[in-house]
Amino acid sequence: MKKTKKNLAVFASGNGSNFEAIVKKIKEGFLPVAKCLLITDKKNAFVRKRAQKYQIKSILLDSVPCKNKEKQSQELIQILESEKIDAVALAGYMRILPASFVKHFKYRIVNIHPSLLPSFAGKKAISRAFNYGVKITGATVHFVSREVDRGPIIAQRVVEIKKGMSLSKLEKEIHKTEHRLYPEILNLLLNQKLKIKNRRVEII
Ligand code: GRF
Repeated sequence: MKKTKKNLAVFASGNGSNFEAIVKKIKEGFLPVAKCLLITDKKNAFVRKRAQKYQIKSILLDSVPCKNKEKQSQELIQILESEKIDAVALAGYMRILPASFVKHFKYRIVNIHPSLLPSFAGKKAISRAFNYGVKITGATVHFVSREVDRGPIIAQRVVEIKKGMSLSKLEKEIHKTEHRLYPEILNLLLNQKLKIKNRRVEII
């Protein structure tokens, strides 16, 4: 990743509020991104509308994941290489990436998760944390490794679950936190300010 401005692919399957937060930061000039691309596996995902609004190219993957994971991985690598993608941001992407894809883009794929990992990894993290009764939860940005939600943690932000707070209010607070945190961390990644030692990530 030697160029000053990088090419970023955002993978998303749903609403796309994080995608839009990233795009806004690109437009504002905060993120050094020359080209942004959306990769999605859901034809009707709202994120596609958001991409249209900002005239961002979106690539729709086959809705039925191919059984041959290796073939799928090579195809995906080829798409990203032909678009000269430097880094990948997962933002609500609901498919597990093939191991060889993760290896190919080692330490160039990040994900945002709506809890303080390693607590509440996996789906429905916000409601599981709420129903469990924890008093603090939050958002985590981490590098993607072969194990889902287990890669080296880059940054975390705490959201307090205050007395009387509803689940929907908590969801709003976490999303607001994510929309601030994710562009900040992408900025560090794209400017090559992250150093990994074993699984500890340091900002340089
Ligand atoms: C976010 O909460 C993110 O942490 C999780 O999926 C959700 C995506 O939300 N991985 P949106 O589609 O960006 O609104």
